[in-house]
Amino acid sequence: MTTRATPIDKHRFGPWALVTGASSGIGRAFATQLAANGINLVLAARRLPILDEVGRGLARQHHIQYRTVQVDLAEPDFLNTLIHSTNDLDLGLIVSNAGDMNLGEFLATAHQALLAELRVNTEAHLSLTHHFGQKLARRGTGGILLVSSVAGIQGVPYIANYSATKSYVLTLGEALHRELAAHGVHVTVLVPGATATAMTARFGADKTPMGRLMMSADTCAAQGLAALTANHPAWISGRMNRVTIALTPRKTRIRMFGAMNKSMADQITTTSDPRTPSIEPDDRPV
Ligand SMILES: NC(=O)c1ccc[n+]([C@@H]2O[C@H](COP(=O)([O-])OP(=O)(O)OC[C@H]3O[C@@H](n4cnc5c(N)ncnc54)[C@H](OP(=O)(O)O)[C@@H]3O)[C@@H](O)[C@H]2O)c1
Repeated sequence: MTTRATPIDKHRFGPWALVTGASSGIGRAFATQLAANGINLVLAARRLPILDEVGRGLARQHHIQYRTVQVDLAEPDFLNTLIHSTNDLDLGLIVSNAGDMNLGEFLATAHQALLAELRVNTEAHLSLTHHFGQKLARRGTGGILLVSSVAGIQGVPYIANYSATKSYVLTLGEALHRELAAHGVHVTVLVPGATATAMTARFGADKTPMGRLMMSADTCAAQGLAALTANHPAWISGRMNRVTIALTPRKTRIRMFGAMNKSMADQITTTSDPRTPSIEPDDRPV
């Protein structure tokens, strides 16, 4: 089912927006909805051919301009690549969405994999927000949308490092929401629950009972853009997720979410190695 694009103020958040992780899932859905609002796009991720395909499709459909940037956000010089590729553009919106997740026992996960996850899920948000936040503050208008996770609201066993990184994003964004308001810049953290994307499919979440309840990437992105427009500091996507978080004690959530992740990790270890997941291209038509 295709969700109608959330209307977004092109003057405040355009004429250009940067979307990280635009080659798949929620990031690709953000790109699609921004394009439907007539906002030009800088699409960033590692898989350039997919970004090119996404950009071409959106340009054809919505008559926007686009630029693709191949960048690994876990690499130390990623910010220079993005600065170099966007310096001449009037960016009104930064969607810092890209993220990665290691599923499995913390002690059994390779240290390098944990560090890469830490970098893409925290340092990338920090550097993007610091650099482009300064530019937006000088501009006196615009927005930053950071993507966290419900896993960041409490610690979650078997994705311990991931949930810690997502707490960082949530608190960084909530704090900057107030600081940057003084400069006319909206900062909103989208806090998705389980969403049907390549990430959840990779870990077999789509085959669990929870899989049937998963939100679509389009709906998740639409809620993020609506929250940004309404200038909320943070927004948990989906009423069911908001109710679960509000009514379930923290201790119970840690146990419940941990059990779900352990069960998925156990399923995967019987068939493959969860620490080295293959990245399947998300080839939904744009
Ligand atoms: N799906 C869920 O249930 C869920 C729930 C809560 C939060 N989230 C968050 O939502 C965001 C989007 O995830 P998704 O579910 O849409 O997953 P996805 O379909 O796997 O997309 C992840 C995106 O991030 C990019 N990416 C990952 N590592 C990168 C790196 N090192 N450098 C540059 N780009 C990188 C990927 O592009 P390339 O592979 O082309 O680089 C891809 O475009 C993430 O921050 C995730 O933590 C997802």
